[in-house]
Amino acid sequence: MKPYEKLLLENKSWAAETLARDPEFFNRLVNLQNPEYLWIGCSDSRVPANQITGTQPGEIFVHRNVANLVVNTDLNLLSVLQYAVEVLKVKHIIVCGHYGCGGVKAAMTNQSLGIIDKWLRNIKDVYRFHRDELNLIENEDKKCDRLVELNVEEQVLNLAKTAIVQRAWKHHNAPHIHGWVYGLHNGLIKPICEMPAGSHVDPIYEYDNL
Ligand code: CO
Repeated sequence: MKPYEKLLLENKSWAAETLARDPEFFNRLVNLQNPEYLWIGCSDSRVPANQITGTQPGEIFVHRNVANLVVNTDLNLLSVLQYAVEVLKVKHIIVCGHYGCGGVKAAMTNQSLGIIDKWLRNIKDVYRFHRDELNLIENEDKKCDRLVELNVEEQVLNLAKTAIVQRAWKHHNAPHIHGWVYGLHNGLIKPICEMPAGSHVDPIYEYDNL
């Protein structure tokens, strides 16, 4: 059996077990998804949104990219965000980074790595904003872990800068935005920051005609 064929076999037994446990499981989900959460996480295979939060299919709308960035020209992220906020009306958006993130580590080096340089540039900007604090940390792993936290904070701010979020805050008083960091070493999530609906960003980013 080829390794990928095992995935298909596992899928068959998962579907059968799920049906045996709950005969209406797929019937319920087929016509409707009604998740309360939008998850913006890292693509890292070790940080699966559903497993680490004990949530089931249908409970979390998921977007993942390298180092969980919210980039205001990323049509993929913005499409996911708009759909989650305006159509699904999620109550919470979670930006979840993780300690030991390879994307954040790469951004701390001076290596050019090809097209991903342009993506990692966003993390280098976060580094520059917080250079004074980061320079005080001598241990490279600890410095990286702090940058992971600061990066999550910055992405939460980036969400609050979007017209999509500001419009939802104004008209629906939701969603609540959370910044979390997952520990690969212990499996635990540490809440870092949050922005409840109606929070303010620097005034230059606030739209008054939404
Ligand atoms: Co990562």
